[in-house]
Amino acid sequence: MKKKKVYIVNLKRLSDIMCRFNRVICKPMALFFANGRNELMPVAIQLFQKPSDDNPVFVPSDPKYTWMMAKMYYNNADAAFHQSCTHLGFTHLVAETICVGTHRQLSPSHPVFRLLAPHFLYLLAINSLALARLVAPNGWIDNTMTTGAGGLMELVSQTWQHWRMDTDGWLPADLASRGMEDTEALPNYPYRDDALLIFEVIHDYVREVLEAFYDSPEKLTDDWEIQNWGHMLADPEDGLGIKGVFGDGKFSDLEDLIKVVTSIIFISSVGHSAANFAQYDEYAFPPNYPAFLRGKPPTSKEPLTEQDIIDALPVKDMTLDIIIVTKILSDRGTNALGDFEVQYMYDPRGTKPVEKLRKRLLEVSDIIAERNKSRPFPYPYLDPKEVPNAISI
Ligand SMILES: [Fe+2]
Repeated sequence: MKKKKVYIVNLKRLSDIMCRFNRVICKPMALFFANGRNELMPVAIQLFQKPSDDNPVFVPSDPKYTWMMAKMYYNNADAAFHQSCTHLGFTHLVAETICVGTHRQLSPSHPVFRLLAPHFLYLLAINSLALARLVAPNGWIDNTMTTGAGGLMELVSQTWQHWRMDTDGWLPADLASRGMEDTEALPNYPYRDDALLIFEVIHDYVREVLEAFYDSPEKLTDDWEIQNWGHMLADPEDGLGIKGVFGDGKFSDLEDLIKVVTSIIFISSVGHSAANFAQYDEYAFPPNYPAFLRGKPPTSKEPLTEQDIIDALPVKDMTLDIIIVTKILSDRGTNALGDFEVQYMYDPRGTKPVEKLRKRLLEVSDIIAERNKSRPFPYPYLDPKEVPNAISI
C-alpha cells in the first residue's frame, strides 16, 4: 500500500437504487493490485457494503467458480455505474443540457458558440433516439440490464448531486481525486495517458482562440452574452445548476472561461469516446462484463460449478440483443476530432488555431499508435482518428 500498488473501488452509490422487478444489484467494493506485469488485478471483492457472515470477502484463492461468480457480480454492478453515470449521465445528458443552454444564451456568431457548435453535432438527435429506444419502458435497458431504466436514471440523478465540472469534468483533477494520477505507481492506465495528451491539445486550442478574441480584460467583463451564459451554467435557480463551474460562472478571469470551454469539448469528444466505443469489446461476451445476471449473488464460499455460472448468464436471446446493440453503439459514423462537419470559424483568429489543432492531433495519434505496440492490450479508443467531435451515438 505504501508503494501505491493497491487500489479500491467502492460502488456504494448503488445502495439506494430500486431495480426493475426487484432484481438484485450488488453494492460492491473491490481491491485491485497493480502487479509486476502492469496488470491491475482484483484481489478482494465484497459484494455488499456491510460485512457479515453471508457477505464474505471473496479472494482469488476461493473455489474457482465461486471467485468467478463474485467477479461477475462485481462487474454487473460496475456495468450499471458505467452505463448510467460514466456514459449516459456525464457525457450524453450533461452535454445536452449545456447544448440547449448555449443555444438560448449565445448568438450563432459568438466566438464561444462557434467553438462549441461542432461538438454538439447530432447530440440532441441521438439523445431523443436513445430516450425512445434504449431508456423507454420495455426498451433495451429495461430488458438487458439488471437495474432497468428506472434504476439507471435514479443512479444518474443521485450521482448528479455530487458531479462537479472542476473535478469530474476536469481531467487532471478527476485523476487526482480518484488516486489514479501517479504514472510510476500505475504505469499502465491507457485512459489516463492518452486522454491527457488530447486534453492538453484541446486546452491549448481553446486558449489560443479565446485569447485572440478577448484581447483586453474589458472585452470579457463587458460581454453580456458570455456573462449570461456563465450564469446559466452555474445558477441552480434559473440555470443548469452545474456545480464547480470555473469562476462560479462569473467570468472576470479569462482562464476560467478557457477551462469551462475546454471541459465541455473534452466531455463531448474524449469523455464520450472512452465511455462509448469500448461497449462492444466489454459487453458482447457477457461473462466478462455482464449487464444482466440471473439468480442471486453468492453469500458464501461454497464451491460453485461451471453449470452455476452458465445458469447465471443471460439467456441466448438477451445475449444476442446485448451483442447487437453494443455493436451498433460502438460504431462511428461521424468525423474525427478537429475534422469538423460544419465550419463555424471564418475569422483567422479561429481558423489558424483549428489548423494547429489538426496537426497536433495527428502527432498524438502517432504517439498512441506507438504506445499500443507495447501495451499488454492495445487501447484504440482514444486515438484522435477514432474520437468523434461530438456525442453522436
Ligand atoms: Fe454514447
